[in-house]
Amino acid sequence: MVTGIHHVGVAVADLDESIELYRSALGARLVHRARNEKDGIEAAFVHTGTGEVELLSATSPDSPVGKFLAKRGPGLHHVAYGVTDITQALADARAAGLELIDAEPRMGMHGSLIAFVHPKSVGGVLTEFVEI
Ligand code: CO
Repeated sequence: MVTGIHHVGVAVADLDESIELYRSALGARLVHRARNEKDGIEAAFVHTGTGEVELLSATSPDSPVGKFLAKRGPGLHHVAYGVTDITQALADARAAGLELIDAEPRMGMHGSLIAFVHPKSVGGVLTEFVEI
């Protein structure tokens, strides 16, 4: 059972520009910025009041986010839900017939365990579980 929306992931072409846009237009506050060379991602986490947005940029064009940007352009990338027990959440998702991208939880850039569910299983929305 999910506890609520944890954050929304947005793919962006230029991370610095996007952080500034969210800051100046929405009053969002940058709380964390991280780079993961293995996944080809640089991400910035901004707080908009109680809600969090993860701005995602690609460090190389052949990374998953690079391919997403090339195919679909900037925009909504994923919705992440908080879960208290990610192993149970994955078992429940599997039992419900959802196709998991991550069969096992892995450490995410938020510093917590995450796992992704295939968008075709969830109405076309890439879905992430974050253990809270
Ligand atoms: Co995320």
